[in-house]
Order: sequence, then structure tokens, then C-alpha cells
Amino acid sequence: MCGIVGCVGLEDSKNYLIGGLKVLEYRGYDSAGIAMIADDEVHVRKAVGMVAELEKMCHDFPRKGSVGIAHTRWATHGGVTQDNAHPHMDAAGNIAVVHNGIVENHNALRTLLEREGIKFKTQTDTEVIAHLVSKFYEDDLAEAVRLALREIRGTFGIAVISKKEPNVLVAARMGSPLVLGVGKDCLLLASDAAPILPYTQQAIYLNNGELLKATPQGYEFFSLDRTSITPKIEELDQQLESIELGQFPHYMLKEIYDQPTSLENTLRGRLKAEAGDVHLGGPGLSLKTIHALNRVIIVGCGTSFHAGLCAKYLFEEFLRIPCEVEYASELRYRNPIVRPKSDLAIFISQSGETADTLAALRELQRKGCRTLGIVNVVNSSIAREVDSGIYTHAGMEIGVASTKAFTAQVAALTLFALYLGRSRDFSSFVLQEMTESLAKIPTLIEDYLVDTTQIEDIAEEVRNARNLLYLGRGYQYPVALEGALKMKEISYIHAEGYPAAEMKHGPIALVDENMPVVAIATRDRTYEKVVSNMQEIKARNGKIIAVTTEGNTDIEKLAWRTIYVPHTIEPIQPLLTSIPLQLLAYYVAVKNGRNVDKPRNLAKSVTVE
Ligand code: G6P
Repeated sequence: MCGIVGCVGLEDSKNYLIGGLKVLEYRGYDSAGIAMIADDEVHVRKAVGMVAELEKMCHDFPRKGSVGIAHTRWATHGGVTQDNAHPHMDAAGNIAVVHNGIVENHNALRTLLEREGIKFKTQTDTEVIAHLVSKFYEDDLAEAVRLALREIRGTFGIAVISKKEPNVLVAARMGSPLVLGVGKDCLLLASDAAPILPYTQQAIYLNNGELLKATPQGYEFFSLDRTSITPKIEELDQQLESIELGQFPHYMLKEIYDQPTSLENTLRGRLKAEAGDVHLGGPGLSLKTIHALNRVIIVGCGTSFHAGLCAKYLFEEFLRIPCEVEYASELRYRNPIVRPKSDLAIFISQSGETADTLAALRELQRKGCRTLGIVNVVNSSIAREVDSGIYTHAGMEIGVASTKAFTAQVAALTLFALYLGRSRDFSSFVLQEMTESLAKIPTLIEDYLVDTTQIEDIAEEVRNARNLLYLGRGYQYPVALEGALKMKEISYIHAEGYPAAEMKHGPIALVDENMPVVAIATRDRTYEKVVSNMQEIKARNGKIIAVTTEGNTDIEKLAWRTIYVPHTIEPIQPLLTSIPLQLLAYYVAVKNGRNVDKPRNLAKSVTVE
């Protein structure tokens, strides 16, 4: 939710700020703005729409500024208008602020400031920060920001500049991520490391409650009570190529095709297929803890929630551990029952910043629950706050609709199940079969992706549908949910995922000759049952798109179109069936002219609850 950049000491500040916003656009893209201090003036531009609109307005904007900040917005408070776009200014127009997060007490602060004579120009919560900074400003911007933030309740990642101190950039974090790139002659601020990568590999991640003052002479870190802090410089291990599109027209397609590599990375050094074994350094659970485990609670949002559901089947069937999968937003307010000695809570998040997942983590930690993260973004908030974790190593995911992060989460959860199982109930035979099958998945996906024209053709045939139904049973039920989510996210076609048999209790009423029904019918224990459910659809003239395993040609008698995926063992078959469903959503969205990587109303990293 919202992306922030800022810089000090760059020759071409405009290029970094606009370029950085483009990289962060996945965080929000309804409007954007920039402020820079050059020639003793605060130059400001704002535009409704994507960063490209802002760029068009900036032809005559100064290239070089002593300091600069910029923002790409996902609206929370106040509609999508030029006025409501950041940066926000104080009444005199000297101070500019960009903000990611929510000022929860903004109404009370606004009333207070209005009583003091301030006239607000926007409907945003952020504007109060600009006025508060101005109110506390004497001659030290960092101190004024510190005092202003003491008045604020909520979450923030902010960057502030002032005309009166043209060489100073102040930033602070409480909940919303910020990272400072330390270049040779420059300091670069951003919401994540991606904009910084072309400039430097050295970075400092701000912690909650930290305030940063950056100048051409260097940087200083303080806590909000003004204690000086010595920050830790880290070496960024991301590669620039991971954010480049290369030959692909969209990040989503690139990321679908990244999956053989991203899954190799998830498994590398962990899966010992020849030995039928798994090594995970991250979880750090003692044998005693593993044996005492009596319940697993998996928590996530969106696609990450679906990855958790895939793991439920595996954990219960093979580990014989009861497993509950919870939406973070529901769990956090439900006063969940926790048994600290025998529960383990797993938090799944691509970004590691999702506000609800983070809050649920804190809630369960407060109750004494042991926590484990399955996170993609290294050093993100969730990664830092869990007791231990497993990084998914999927590489940077930029398309808003998650693809490679999902398969990496499923693979990491499978690794974790094997890690627990080797010390519990797994026979060496099960371990051997699972590790060998998992090791083959990247190659199977690579082979599958060689020719996807069939999916493009099916997309052409369903692109005008108004509704789609996705059905699956057992391990394929979460895949049906994820397939439907992909379709609605990027194509804006209503799609519903359902347990195949349960559709008789409602969705079957929607079925007619215009209704494409994607039925996942892989050769597994529920195959015959799914086939019966398909018969029920066919009897009502539904158009069945069957996703089945290679060689299962019988199904063509029932299906309108049949998609074959390679066969593997049942618990990890979702890693293969999810691929054509990602592609189907992608091609339908492209054919319908949707903005695939930045679908309307969505954002990749949801840092508000
Ligand atoms: C947003 C994204 C989804 C993602 C969900 C959870 O809705 O658009 O792709 O699955 O947030 O995000 P997380 O980063 O916690 O996995």
C-alpha cells in the first residue's frame, strides 16, 4: 500500500525518484507525486493515474535537487484526486511529506489543528503530519518530525523535506517498511530494496520506532525518544535482473515462467532427494518440540491463505497433526485459543508486510504461541518478528497477482512437513517418494511451459464469460480457490472456487450453456467422485474445462476442453495443476485488455488492515 522513495546527493534525482516509483508501483498506482528542493524552492508535481502520468507532467521539473521525495498511492483516506495525492504540504508550502500507512487519530488531530486556524486542503489522514511538523518546527526538521510523530497513533513510513533545511531528508518508520541505500556519494530511501539496487548493494533496514536524518554528510539514526542508534548495514543479495522484464510483455507472465527456477531456489540445499531427506536450518525446532507438537495453525491472506490450505491436507494426512488454516484478518480479532506448549503457528506471506498477518502474528505471540514464518521478502517485518522461519527464495515478485510466490510457499510448506515428518511418523519409504517427487517438479513445470498455445485458445473461448466456476476436491480444492482468485483479480470476471461436491448446494444453480466450469480432475483418490460431479455439470449443459493428468484421455468424453498436466504424487500435484490456471487467468486478462500487472483497486502489499 503506497510506495515511497527519497534521495540525497544524487546528480539525477528526478530519474531516481520517478524510476523508483515505477519499480514500487505494485504497491499502489492510483496517483503519484514528487517534491524536490532545488534553487531554494520546493518543486511539487502530482498526477492522478499511474507514475507515467506524473512523468509526463515532469518534463520541465528540475533534474537535480539537494533532496527529494516521491510517492505512489493506494487510496485509503480520501478519494483518488490530484489534491489527495502525496506529497502533502504544510500551510506555508515549505514542508513536504510522503506517507505509507494510516494515521488512526487523524480526525482528532485535524479538529485540533483546525481550531488553531489551519485550513486543510485534502481529505487525507497524511495532511495532519505536514501541519504537525510545521507546528513543532523551530530550526531542526528531524526534531520537529520526532515531536509530530509522538502525537500520532497508527502506522507510518514517512519521508519529509523542508525548504528551510534544503540538504536534509528525514524519514521514520512505525509499521510500514523503509530501507536506506548507502551509495558512494548518495543516500537513497525506498519502501523496499528494488529501486536502490541499480545504485548500491549496501542498505540499512529501518526498524519500527526509528527516525533517520540523511544529509550529504551522512546519516544519523534515532529512536523516537531521541536516543542515538547505530544501524546495521546489510549487503543486498537481490539481483537487478530479478526486476527486469526481459523478453516478457508482463511481469505476471515472466513470473509464471520463473517458476522452474524459483522452485529450484526454494528447494536448493534443503531437499536431499538421493538420501530421501530434508535439511532446514531455519525452523530450529528441537526434537522435543517436534514431538510435543499437537496442532498447527496456519495464517495468511489471499494467495498465501490458499497455500496454507494446500498444506492442511498434507499435515493432517501424513503428519497426523490437526491443522487449522485461518484468514489473518479474522483470527486477529477472535481471541483465538492457544496452547503454548503444543501449538505452532505458521505465518505465510510473500511480502512479509501484510498488516493483518503481522497483527495476527503479534496476537498469537502475545498469547505465548511459538511462531514460524514462510516469507519471501528477506528482512521484512514478519520475517523479523517470527521466532524462526523458512524463506521461500522465490525472487522478487512484482505482478500484483501472485504466481511464483504461491508455488514457492507450497513447496516450502511441503519441505517443512517433511522436516517434521522425518522426526515423527514418516516412513523412509514416504520420505524417499516425496523428496524424489518434489525434486522433479521444476523440470516438469519447465517442460509444461514450452507450449501454452492450448491455454491461449481456451482463453479466447472463455474471455466473454460473465462467470466461471472452479471445482476441486481434496488437495485440488485450494487450487480451485486459487485459480478462481487469479481469474477475478486480473480479468474482473466473476469466478468462484468451490469444493466439487459442495457445488450441488448452491453454485449448480448458476450452471447453464454459457457457464465455463473448470474442474480439476487429477488421477487421485477423489478422481471418480470429481468425475461424478462433472457429470452433474454436463447434465445441465455446463462447459467443462477439465484439468487432468497426462494419459487420462477418458475424461475427454465429458469435458468440453481438456488440459493435461504432468502427473506426480497427490500431495504435491497442486504445484502442477496451478500452472495452467495461472496462465488461463493471464491470457483472458490480456485478451480483454486488462492491466495484468496492476489490476484495478488492488495492491501487492496490503499494509493497512
Ligand atoms: C494482496 C496481494 C495478493 C497476496 C495478498 C497477501 O492481496 O495482491 O497477491 O496474496 O495480498 O499478501 P502477502 O504478501 O502477505 O502474501
